[in-house]
Amino acid sequence: MFHRSSTRHGPAGWERAYVPRCPSNSDSRRGPSPTVDVRDLAWEDFEGWVGLYYSRYEEVRTNPELGVYTFESKPTLGEEAELFGKVWKDVLAGDLVVSVGDEGGRIVGICSVYRAGRHREDRHAGILAIAVHPDWRGRGVGSRLIPHALKKCEGKFELVRLTVTEVNLPARALYRKCGFVESGRLPRAFKRNDAYFDDIVMWRPVGEPGRPTSSAAVGDGTMSEG
Ligand SMILES: CC(C)(COP(=O)(O)OP(=O)(O)OC[C@H]1O[C@@H](n2cnc3c(N)ncnc32)[C@H](O)[C@@H]1OP(=O)(O)O)[C@@H](O)C(=O)NCCC(=O)NCCS
Repeated sequence: MFHRSSTRHGPAGWERAYVPRCPSNSDSRRGPSPTVDVRDLAWEDFEGWVGLYYSRYEEVRTNPELGVYTFESKPTLGEEAELFGKVWKDVLAGDLVVSVGDEGGRIVGICSVYRAGRHREDRHAGILAIAVHPDWRGRGVGSRLIPHALKKCEGKFELVRLTVTEVNLPARALYRKCGFVESGRLPRAFKRNDAYFDDIVMWRPVGEPGRPTSSAAVGDGTMSEG
């Protein structure tokens, strides 16, 4: 996650952002949570945005399979503020879509799609990442965040892709539910504590007929791969 220097692919800093990759496989489903409002990221969300990001540093201590990237030490609030400024700039430029789950003012989930590159050859693609706070997983928040983000991708990106660690079964199920299909594997892409995990590549077109993006029921994942 989070290479602070600018990169060839996408806006600076966004590799880190919501680079999900695989959380625990424990079954924590608890039924839908209608109290969560799913909406676009707002400028006022900085505190909640950082809070959710920081929570991964607590979680990774007890869950070594958590599929998100972490630095040796938690970035400072100042670094986060600088990143949030870049995030907001990219949102305004149309290079980034961010949906948040808001529960009474607390940000409990974030789904982002950032432009893969700014070249003529790669600017049509978006890269998706998602994270839901551990206390709010299994309540349908992820299932609402992704369709909301995909709807916002219409007119910006032609397709969305992502990578997910192979052991992250909840995330893989969520992506399939949202119409993504698996199309490849990156061997040993993720390493933590000397353990390697393969990443699975998944993708789906944006706003394609038969692939509605306005509800959670966006397909059964049987689309043929390109
Ligand atoms: C992956 C993640 C975003 C899912 O979010 P969520 O809000 O818990 O997901 P939902 O409650 O909407 O569940 C969506 C689907 O995922 C699957 N799922 C969710 N929790 C599951 C679990 N514990 N075990 C198996 N499947 C699960 C189910 O198919 C579910 O659909 P269903 O309820 O209709 O059966 C969340 O677990 C998370 O933030 N994990 C840590 C970060 C991460 O791994 N991000 C993705 C990295 S690529």
